[in-house]
Amino acid sequence: EPKELQQEIKSRRFEAAKQGQQLTVGLVPTMGYLHEGHASLIRKARVNDVVVLSIFVNPIQFGPNEDLDRYPRDAARDLALAEKEQVDIVFMPEVQHMYPKPTKTKIQVEGLTSSLCGASRPGHFDGVTTVVAKLFHMTSPDFAYFGMKDAQQVAVLSQMVTDLNMDVQLVPCPIVRESDGLALSSRNVYLSEEQRSQALVLSASLKEAYGLVQEKKLTIAGELKKLLVERIETKPLAEIDYVEVLTFPELEPLDEQTRLDEYPGDIIAALAVKFGSTRLIDNMLLQKK
Ligand code: PAJ
Repeated sequence: EPKELQQEIKSRRFEAAKQGQQLTVGLVPTMGYLHEGHASLIRKARVNDVVVLSIFVNPIQFGPNEDLDRYPRDAARDLALAEKEQVDIVFMPEVQHMYPKPTKTKIQVEGLTSSLCGASRPGHFDGVTTVVAKLFHMTSPDFAYFGMKDAQQVAVLSQMVTDLNMDVQLVPCPIVRESDGLALSSRNVYLSEEQRSQALVLSASLKEAYGLVQEKKLTIAGELKKLLVERIETKPLAEIDYVEVLTFPELEPLDEQTRLDEYPGDIIAALAVKFGSTRLIDNMLLQKK
């Protein structure tokens, strides 16, 4: 329960303080059905004295027609992985403990949430920022670890932390991929063999775009976007939700004619594509300045 978690962390900090030590707490928020991507965050968090892993399929970040009910769950396997990765505290609350009554307080980050996944999933990021703020209050972490797989989530949460003076340092972590390039996701289990094999086009086309940008063979934002769309459209099972080339972390779409090499900041290509009813996201930083 949230109160127990708060108490536990308080008492650990208190005990350490009595010995003249100051504990650092690292938080890794997840929705479970853990995979190597989650494990990579846990390993990064190990530099802290206390690693807290939260596993909670947060209902308020799912839309009415989304996959809340069928979201994959396996508590036993998750706990085994947490133990293997030496997590100190696993927080796995029930919905009625996180939301005893429907929340009347929500955190909303403006602007950054209106594009990409925010446009396709209205209210999604309000659910994310609200639950992450709750988790921050329950664990008062020094560091919190998030994957760049959800790049917009990283951008939105950074803005929240800055705007609300939250005393936590966000640590963005690189995307973990299968050996064939597919970005790990709990939702990959939904994919049929055929869909999975066609879904490789996402990482392959991002990688191709990255290579072309590095070699300066393709530098115009609009042309990059066109290349990505063309590559994805060769797969009959792929249904594009969005393909965008934007600045990161501001998430401002680049003008079609913008030359990437003349832009002073980081640039990201981000996409969401449906295979059947499964929506996959992927992205790559094309240019890091
Ligand atoms: P979930 O999708 O379970 O992801 C938990 C964390 O793992 C996120 O920070 C996500 O970016 C990271 N992650 C997922 N796949 C990854 C991969 N292939 N490589 C690296 N990191 C990866 O994101 C959420 O849950 C929720 O929105 C949450 C933040 C927990 C709030 O409910």
